[in-house]
Amino acid sequence: MEPLVITGIGELATNDPVTGTLSEGAVVTEGEAVAWAGPAGDLPSGWAGARTIDVEGRAVMPGFVDAHTHLVFAGDRSDEFARRMAGESYADISAAGGGILSTVAATRSADRRRLVAGARRRMERMLAAGTTTVEIKSGYGLDIATELLMLEVAEEAAAGFPLTLRRTFLGAHTVPSEYRTDPAAYVELVVEEMLPVCAPHADYCDVFVEEGAFGVEEARRILTAAASHGLGARVHAEQLGHSGGAALAAELGAVSADHLDHITTAEAKALAAAGTVATLVPGASFQLRSPQAPGPMLWDAGVTVAIATDCNPGTSYVESMPFVVALAVTQMGLTVEQAVWAATRGGALSLGMDDRGRLAPGDRADLIVLDAPSVAHLAYRPATPLVSTVITGGKIRT
Ligand code: NIG
Ligand code: FE
Repeated sequence: MEPLVITGIGELATNDPVTGTLSEGAVVTEGEAVAWAGPAGDLPSGWAGARTIDVEGRAVMPGFVDAHTHLVFAGDRSDEFARRMAGESYADISAAGGGILSTVAATRSADRRRLVAGARRRMERMLAAGTTTVEIKSGYGLDIATELLMLEVAEEAAAGFPLTLRRTFLGAHTVPSEYRTDPAAYVELVVEEMLPVCAPHADYCDVFVEEGAFGVEEARRILTAAASHGLGARVHAEQLGHSGGAALAAELGAVSADHLDHITTAEAKALAAAGTVATLVPGASFQLRSPQAPGPMLWDAGVTVAIATDCNPGTSYVESMPFVVALAVTQMGLTVEQAVWAATRGGALSLGMDDRGRLAPGDRADLIVLDAPSVAHLAYRPATPLVSTVITGGKIRT
C-alpha cells in the first residue's frame, strides 16, 4: 500500500511520551502502520512525492479503543430507562425480572441474522464516531448455545469491517431465571460446560461481581478456570455497591477491572501494584444517575486508566467515544488530556494491545481527524459530531 502523508495538522496528540502533543504536526503511514509522526517542519523529505492530504488546521489523534461493550443484543429497554428516570431503581427493576434478564429473553429468541445486523449497525455508528478497536462481551445468552452464538455474532458482524475486534466471554453476567434457586449449579455449568465451548471464541473472561450477580469466591473459581483455557481476566467490579471485585482483580492479576464507582483508595493502590487497568464507564453512571467512579483518585494512585462506552441496552446505550470523553471530563473530573489518553492508549492497554492508541513508528495506523483545531473540542462541544475522517490500518474509511 502506498504511503500516506497527513500535513496541516493543527494539533497532533500522539500519546508517544517522546513526541507528546504538537501544535503543528505531520504523520506518515506506510502499509498498515505509522511510519513517522512529528513536528511539521521536521517531515523527512523522502516522502515529498507521496500521496498527501492537507487537513487544514484540524486536530489528529489515535482512533478510539472502546475496551468495554455489550453491543450484541436484541430487544428494547427504553421503557425501563423511562421508569428509572421517573424514580424506580435499576436494582428493583432487575429483581422483578427486568434488567439483564429481559435482554437475555429477547436475545435467546432473536434469530442470528437480526443479531448480526443489529451489532453491525452499532459498529458502523461507532466507526463513524472514531472507534477503531472494540471489545464485545457475551452475557445475554446465559446458556451454552446462546453464549456461543453471541461470540460468533460479534465475529460475523466484524468480518470484513475495518474495526479490530476483541471478544470476552461473560457467561457469569447474572444467574438466569432457570437457575435462580440453585446458583451454584449455574457456576458449575459456566465452568464445566460453557467455558470449554466458548473459550476458543474469546480472548477474555469477565464476571459481574455484585450483590444479586456473583460473589468473589464464585468469580475466583470462574476466572481461574478461564485462565486454564487461555483467557485473560476482566472483572465488572464495585459498580452498584462495594463487592470486593477490584481486590480480586488485583489478586488474580486481571488485565482490567471495570466500572469501579465504589472503589477505595487502598484497592486503587492494589490495582496499580498489580498492573491491572481501571476501565471506567462514565456513560453507565450517567444513565443510572449515580456518582461517577473516582477517576482522578485512580489516576493519582498510579493506576492505568481507560474509559469506554459500556454500550448496552440497560445502563449505557452509548456508542460514541467522543461523548464518553466529554462525560469523563465534565462529570468525572479527568482533564482533557487524561480523558483523551484514557480513551485511546488506556483502552489499548486495557485490551493488552501495545501497538495502538498511540502514533509512534510501528504502531497500527488507526487515527482520526477532528473537524476542530484541538482535541479539547471533544469535551467542549459534546453534542457535535466532530470526527471527520477515520483511518484504520493506513486506509481512509470515512
Ligand atoms: O455494564 N453491570 C453489568 N452489566 C451491564 C448492564 C447490563 C444490562 O443492564 O443489560 C453494565 O452496566
Ligand atoms: Fe458492562
